Amino acid sequence: MTQATMFKRMFKRMFKRMFKRTIARFASKAVMLGLLTISPFVLADPAVTISEVKPIMMGFGKNLKAELKQAMMSGGPIEGIAICNTQAPEIAKQASHSGWAVARTSLKWRNDKNEPDQWEKEQLIEFDRKLKTGESSNKLWSVYEDEKEVRVMKAIMTDGVCLVCHGESLMPAVSKKLNELYPNDHATGFKAGDIRGAF
Ligand code: HEC
Repeated sequence: MTQATMFKRMFKRMFKRMFKRTIARFASKAVMLGLLTISPFVLADPAVTISEVKPIMMGFGKNLKAELKQAMMSGGPIEGIAICNTQAPEIAKQASHSGWAVARTSLKWRNDKNEPDQWEKEQLIEFDRKLKTGESSNKLWSVYEDEKEVRVMKAIMTDGVCLVCHGESLMPAVSKKLNELYPNDHATGFKAGDIRGAF
């Protein structure tokens, strides 16, 4: 090998290395810039989101309560259980529209399909804490938003009617029916004024 070709190769190698380093530096800068600029995602005002969701949630709650009341008046609590068991998911489906899916959850759920996920669990715990410190129950709302989804939760309070199936002492026939349908039931032992769960 002549000295000239040796130099040529050395320069080639040096040049390659420099080129690679510049590319790498440029690429990392571009990624950083991208992260800074490719995020046009802006959080919506939670109050606006709540006002959009409120009628959907309330509609679901009202329809379910109306069906439950009617069933209990005509066929007693056992008929009421049947309505909650079969109609609750159906009414939730009907109420879901405009991109929103309505459902119910609770820290002490009856139907395993209503088990809260991590975010829901945190909100329910926070609702309980806020209620204990004197917050009004109709202020117990929570909104979460990222690029993929918006989630809204609202506390559901326990009133006198609910105690027939969620209270501390249930009629034997009610207990029996609930045990049949929900062997893992956690949704008893509530008192009026407790948070029963959330939409
Ligand atoms: C006649 C019995 C009965 C009465 C009265 C009743 N519930 Fe329920 N509740 C049920 C049953 C059964 C389920 C399970 C529904 C299902 O399978 O999705 C349920 C489920 C729920 C859930 C969903 C979370 C979970 O535990 O799975 C909430 C929230 C709830 N009830 C709130 C209430 C409130 C609030 C009242 C009073 C306004 C009430 N219920 C009255 C029987 C009843």
